[in-house]
Amino acid sequence: MKDVASRIKKGNVVAFCGAGLSAESGIPTFRGRGGLWEKYDPQLYGSAEGLSTLLLSEHKNVRDFVTDFYSILLEAKPNYAHYALSQLEERGYLRGIITQNIDDFHFQAGSRNVAEIHGNAYVFRCEMCDFAVKKEKDQVNAFLKSLAALNEREDVVGEIFGFMGYCPHCHRRLEPGIVLFGQSLPLKEVEKCYEYLDNAEVVLCVGTSGTMYPAASFPLYAHQKGTEVIIVNPEDSFLDSISDCTFYQGACSFFKNLFLHL
Ligand code: APR
Repeated sequence: MKDVASRIKKGNVVAFCGAGLSAESGIPTFRGRGGLWEKYDPQLYGSAEGLSTLLLSEHKNVRDFVTDFYSILLEAKPNYAHYALSQLEERGYLRGIITQNIDDFHFQAGSRNVAEIHGNAYVFRCEMCDFAVKKEKDQVNAFLKSLAALNEREDVVGEIFGFMGYCPHCHRRLEPGIVLFGQSLPLKEVEKCYEYLDNAEVVLCVGTSGTMYPAASFPLYAHQKGTEVIIVNPEDSFLDSISDCTFYQGACSFFKNLFLHL
């Protein structure tokens, strides 16, 4: 750990994060026990086509999914690891965070340079002009309360579309600012990733299984350029083959230990 701390202190570190980072905030990982994909079929609930089909035939299930998804987010808070990453940026060691997480926790913990490659659950965006709105937690809470009271399909669909709102410029319905399966990553966020990774000396991969592409290609790109890869994960991951150093532990205990040496 002492060696890793001294390399981190040299700066030019980029964090590549996944669901495991937020596990200790009480958000189950997607593929772990109790994760969203255990209860809901990702092919259906994780894709735009699947969700549109479900809204026509199984609107109550969509309502349950939306409610489960946001309730978990609203109840949770950033944990020690999110604040540690924000602190590393503050101290000038961390160039940026590339996150697959959509929970907004990096921003809530005070990080500034964050590429949200899978989007943000609180953001709704116009596909045409890229106009975006970020909802407050209170607005999401009020939406869930109204949704709970509805039974008819038209009402559920109307409530969901009403919550997302319309673009003031194009008048199109805003879309969830989350990257669903089969959709491409947002260009601006991808540009940030390369900006962070070019000249990076260390990539710290925290809490990701490394199964999801193109996301997992970022640490691979860094490794091919000769950047050192450090992994923090209590279990084996698909990035292990490119690891220079692996810490088989949870994110919070890793960062607590790291800060003892910084
Ligand atoms: N600290 C660090 N890592 C942890 C912890 C913890 N406390 N708890 C679990 N993990 C690890 C698991 O061992 C696992 O390898 O976090 C990883 C989570 O893996 P996934 O659930 O596959 O999450 P992620 O890698 O972020 O998935 C990528 O897949 O479903 C899509 O779009 C979704 O962004 C997500 C993407």
